[in-house]
Amino acid sequence: MTISATETISPRSVITVSPQSGYTGAEITGVDLAEDLSDEVISEIRRALLRWKVVFFRDQTIGHAAQIAFARRFGKVTPAHPYEESPPEGFPEILPIDSRRYSAQYGRKRTSYDSSWHTDVTALVNPPAFSILRAEFLPPYGGDTAWTNLVAAYENLPAELRAFVDTLDAEHTFDNRASAGSNRARAVARTPLRTFHPVVRVHPETGERALFVSPGFTRHARNIRHLGPRLSAHLLDALWEEATRTEYTVRFRWQPGSVAFWDNRATAHLAIPDAGHLGHDRVLYRVTLEGEVPEGVDGRRSESVEGDPFYGS
Ligand code: SIN
Repeated sequence: MTISATETISPRSVITVSPQSGYTGAEITGVDLAEDLSDEVISEIRRALLRWKVVFFRDQTIGHAAQIAFARRFGKVTPAHPYEESPPEGFPEILPIDSRRYSAQYGRKRTSYDSSWHTDVTALVNPPAFSILRAEFLPPYGGDTAWTNLVAAYENLPAELRAFVDTLDAEHTFDNRASAGSNRARAVARTPLRTFHPVVRVHPETGERALFVSPGFTRHARNIRHLGPRLSAHLLDALWEEATRTEYTVRFRWQPGSVAFWDNRATAHLAIPDAGHLGHDRVLYRVTLEGEVPEGVDGRRSESVEGDPFYGS
């Protein structure tokens, strides 16, 4: 595939794909997500997504129903979140990411529900394959989101380290400490989710290998099987540092009507926590698509310790 400032997927392509950084992220133009898109356009979007790991659309005027309908073109849409208790009425698939809710829940404004690098809901044995996030109300400045390319992070490790981390499994759980005392924290304690995932997963569509650890879900347990707590913590720190090297990342400035669509099998993301302290509000809506149980390089699959798989429809 030729890479230029804008990248045409095929000579007959109807969409335009403009890479936003050297490894990660592309903006797609020429698509109105409110329309019933042709199979050809859907497969071009999917190809761009697999290539760039996250794609962005601007100036979309869609609501919850159209966001869910668009998501269904790529797979089964899950309920909003294993711990979401009050999605918007009539839309159980929509997860509101709404600073006004966090003020009510946690007694302080937050930019997003998580302020660390993470891949969505990896405490599940089958974490979501894709997420689609739509912005409605944004702070005047701040509140950007960054993504990192976990395939690039893996491929650029030294061969000896790659061979070693290929063999490892790490424990993923929700870290409840920041939300202690909240309804969310009680729900997590009532129905815990805990899974050992391969530290390196093989992407089921591209065959690429990706690092599959992120601080959001592995910092609480800090447990790589058989390594013990000290070595686990040191190795996870080193892998997180590699995974979030600036050159693998892209930073997206939201506007009302912006949509980001990412592949959780190849990325981690960070809601940059610089909006809450200013008192600014930020409202976005997310849907997730059902994911498969990850596989490591030797074909071993993730193992659930607590919790059920999360299915969509
Ligand atoms: C998410 O983690 O899915 C939301 C990211 C954000 O709030 O920017």
